[in-house]
Amino acid sequence: MPMLRFDPGGSSAADIYKLMIGMVVPRPIAFVSSLDERGVRNLAPFSYFMACTADPPVVCFVSSFRKGETPTKDTLRNVLATKEFVVNIVSEEFADKMNLTSAEVPPEIDEFELSGLTPVASELVKPPRVGESRAQMECRLRQILQIGEHPGGGTIVFGDVLRFHVDAEVLDGYKIDPDKLKAIGRMGGPTYVRTRDRFDMIRPK
Ligand SMILES: Cc1cc2nc3c(=O)[nH]c(=O)nc-3n(C[C@H](O)[C@H](O)[C@H](O)COP(=O)(O)O)c2cc1C
Repeated sequence: MPMLRFDPGGSSAADIYKLMIGMVVPRPIAFVSSLDERGVRNLAPFSYFMACTADPPVVCFVSSFRKGETPTKDTLRNVLATKEFVVNIVSEEFADKMNLTSAEVPPEIDEFELSGLTPVASELVKPPRVGESRAQMECRLRQILQIGEHPGGGTIVFGDVLRFHVDAEVLDGYKIDPDKLKAIGRMGGPTYVRTRDRFDMIRPK
């Protein structure tokens, strides 16, 4: 295998980003709902996202710094102000609506209205859930960790999951049927994956 080597200092930040998002695939998507201090509803997808621990249940996502005068994204500003957010899992059926919310729009725009997605009241936090999403996690801010200071860097947001909501149709006990959840993931650039092509492998004892 002829391997090429790249060191972070020797390539542009944009090229390093391409390597990272091409290499770390597929990435799950946290579709985050939040509220600003006045109650304006915000939605945005984040594919720097993962489940961190189960006991306590903690998830994290990264809000990258924007170019320009306001580097902090609305989601991060809201989470820092209110300490609450919801992670909604994205299914194939509303992928296009999710995409609409990734547009850079002013903070006073209600992104539920922008996307046509349905706000459903949460039970333990103020930000609403996305009604079309078959699995949602109500979260309270646990901790943030800032990495770097400029575009390319960002802030990791850790949240404690206070309550899980799962569509009864996709559940068998606590097991989620991926064929019914129909979650999507993100590859590099504008490419996404479905979660239909799978195989099982039993771990050795
Ligand atoms: C599928 C997808 C994944 C994304 N992942 C991230 C991410 O992990 N971190 C990030 O800062 N922006 C990510 N973005 C871009 C944000 O969604 C976008 O900047 C959005 O406008 C932020 O909204 P906000 O200002 O309302 O928080 C992603 C966009 C898409 C479409």
